Amino acid sequence: MRRKLAAGNWKMNGTLAGLDMLADVAAAMDSTRAEAVICPPAPYLLPAVTKAQGTPVGIGAQDCHAEPKGAFTGDISASMIKEVGATYVILGHSERRDAYGETDADVAAKAQAAWDAGLTAIICIGESEADRSSGTTLDVIAEQLAGSLPDGCTGENTVVAYEPIWAIGTGKIPTLDQIVEVHDFIRATLAERFGTDVSDALRLLYGGSVKPDNAAEIFKVDNVDGALIGGASLRAADFVPILQALS
Ligand code: G3P
Repeated sequence: MRRKLAAGNWKMNGTLAGLDMLADVAAAMDSTRAEAVICPPAPYLLPAVTKAQGTPVGIGAQDCHAEPKGAFTGDISASMIKEVGATYVILGHSERRDAYGETDADVAAKAQAAWDAGLTAIICIGESEADRSSGTTLDVIAEQLAGSLPDGCTGENTVVAYEPIWAIGTGKIPTLDQIVEVHDFIRATLAERFGTDVSDALRLLYGGSVKPDNAAEIFKVDNVDGALIGGASLRAADFVPILQALS
């Protein structure tokens, strides 16, 4: 049985004071079986872990370097994320693939580093609008899955987030049929490569314009085990109803 997951990606948004929302998320977890994770910007990781201490809310980072340490100005390692008490790291978000030229191989190397440090990697994949309109969505998804997930993937060390790039921050979401098609395809592809024990245990999140008013409908899809939420993860008033829609 896969535990549902609502993961919030604050991106480069939020404030230290905004971490107060963690208390509301923790309170909401009393009445849901779902898991909640918030991924704030790196400077807020330790304060977030401190605030979440003693609650079931998990904290994650938004990226890590593939190397354990070294002369990489501006980067953070997976072991640093682990050391401050975070347990998840988002990897391969389309904004990083786009702005920093991260390749599938880069994402796989970072995933390996995350696993080595004991973190769970939330690995993002998703097609562009051009891929969608040219009918190559499943080819793109297959290629990203093959390249971004290292051997050794399990339901404990990895979560896959399907985020169609054209749905991120746009208010547009795919049709339920499109979500069903991609999520079923991801599950089947994982089964082929890692076996059904792994694919049955691994959680698949949908991401892209998830809001309180569309979450319940998206969560009805069989192979959707939760969501990776951007804008609506910044305030408890938006995030909590999404979390509750997973119950
Ligand atoms: O990683 C989450 C994200 O890219 C979706 O963002 O703002 O459309 O929920 P948003």
